[in-house]
Formats: sequence, C-alpha cells, structure tokens
Amino acid sequence: MISLAPMTRELFHEYYRGFRYDPAVFNDMELYEKCRSRPYDEAEVNRHYDARMSRAGSLSLAAMLDGRVIGDVVLKRIDREKKQCEIGIHLISDEFKGLGYGTEALRQAISYAFDELGMEKVLADCIVKNTRSRHVIEKLGFCFLGEEDGFYKFELCR
Ligand SMILES: CC(C)(COP(=O)(O)OP(=O)(O)OC[C@H]1O[C@@H](n2cnc3c(N)ncnc32)[C@H](O)[C@@H]1OP(=O)(O)O)[C@@H](O)C(=O)NCCC(=O)NCCS
Repeated sequence: MISLAPMTRELFHEYYRGFRYDPAVFNDMELYEKCRSRPYDEAEVNRHYDARMSRAGSLSLAAMLDGRVIGDVVLKRIDREKKQCEIGIHLISDEFKGLGYGTEALRQAISYAFDELGMEKVLADCIVKNTRSRHVIEKLGFCFLGEEDGFYKFELCR
C-alpha cells in the first residue's frame, strides 16, 4: 500500500540510487540520452536536495511502498493567498509504473493539499507526448485548460 512521507535527505538518496529517467518527460531526446547515462552522484544529489529544500512554497514527499521509496511527489508554488499549488510526480523506475501507484500517490497528495494545506485549486501539467501522465491526471478529475509552450495544463478545484 502506498503512503506519503516527508522527503528526507536519506530518502532522496535512496530515490536517486534507483532512479531511471523516463523518455516520456523529455521533448529533447538527445538530452534524454545524456541524462540516462549519468551515474548516481552523491554530491549532485546533495546539491539537488539542498536546492529543493530552500525553495519557498514547495513541499517534497516520498511515495513509500513496503518501506521503500518508489516516487518523488512535489507540491510546489504553494500560494496561500490564492489557495492554489502545483503538483508533480515521478516514479523511480519502470518496475513500479503501470501498477496504480502513481494514481494513488497523487490522490493522497491532492487530499493533503486540500485538507491539510487548505488549497482550493491544484494545477498540473505534462508535455504533450506524455499520454500516460495526461490519462492519470484526467482520471483524477482534473479539467484540461489548454496547451502552453508544449505543455498541457490542467486544474482540479476542491
Ligand atoms: C505518470 C506516472 C506518475 C503514472 O503513474 P503510474 O503508476 O505509472 O500510473 P497508474 O498505474 O496509476 O495508471 C496508469 C494509467 O494510464 C494508462 N496508460 C498507460 N500507458 C498509457 C499511455 N501510453 N497512454 C495513455 N494511457 C496510458 C493505464 O492504462 C492506466 O489507466 P487506467 O487506470 O485507467 O487503466 C508514472 O508513470 C511516472 O512517474 N512516469 C514518469 C514521470 C512522469 O511522466 N511524470 C508526470 C510528469 S507530469
């Protein structure tokens, strides 16, 4: 069963040790080829974690399955005045995709945004070719807003 936990530095390292890039999130396939051949780099992951944690209005969550981190879920651009935020997710590797875990992790993060953070709107996006992401976003009830700069944009209101 999926649960969400605060993304600690330790979990972030565990995530990146097992992380595999997904071509569905790249428009630039040369960049994908470059990224996928990069090995886990402890110092780089530390810098990435520090940058994440210093970003205002952002909350990083680890999607956990049987005590292992299998996904990175982010609530970002949390705007307390407008009561809206954006959501993003990336599962660790193909082994864990297509099994319902992404949908469940998003469902829990959306509930957290509405019920704990008091948000009234959650925004999501995906690149046009990412049909799986679009399917999951719409399955969760998000409305399609349109396309902007190669991204499909969606919103879910409480
Ligand atoms: C997108 C992501 C979070 C979805 O999580 P997941 O656990 O793989 O997805 P689920 O198993 O919960 O649901 C997949 C659904 O998409 C459908 N699907 C699978 N491949 C698809 C495709 N190529 N096009 C359209 N729908 C597709 C499945 O049939 C399933 O739908 P159903 O529940 O109605 O049967 C996950 O695949 C992921 O992390 N991908 C890489 C990063 C990414 O794309 N992040 C989103 C960027 S905005």
